[in-house]
Amino acid sequence: MSGMERKELRIVGFLCNWCSYGGADTAGVSRFKQPTDLRIIRVPCSGRVDPLLVVKAFMEGADGVLVSGCHPRDCHYAEGNFYARRRLEVLKRFLPFMGIEPGRFEYTWVSASEGARWQKVVTEFTNQIHRLGPIRRKGDGGGDIR
Ligand code: FES
Repeated sequence: MSGMERKELRIVGFLCNWCSYGGADTAGVSRFKQPTDLRIIRVPCSGRVDPLLVVKAFMEGADGVLVSGCHPRDCHYAEGNFYARRRLEVLKRFLPFMGIEPGRFEYTWVSASEGARWQKVVTEFTNQIHRLGPIRRKGDGGGDIR
């Protein structure tokens, strides 16, 4: 079975409007083949992604969450991605204490012109989530989500 034919999982992507959303759009316009598991939420800046939004996405059923913003020093609001990096790095270390495997969450930087990079990022992250499988919830005999 090829990577494009498997059962979809629920992956949420918070993408900043100015860079990563543009990168995803560039990938789409360029007709780069991508997995379809990702549900994109466009945000003004990665700095606006409260870590609790990521936790809420997991609590609401996401199997994986990806945050993507502008490259460092390219943020439309100058330093939003620096704040994002600081907060999301702490969140990444905290998630295992909530029973969420560290591989289920990533943050990265993709510019609007990097359609090929977006394709690579989303494909690799989706493959990683598929390797981990659907997230286990309380009552499934597994993790502690919910
Ligand atoms: Fe893209 Fe701030 S505007 S990360």
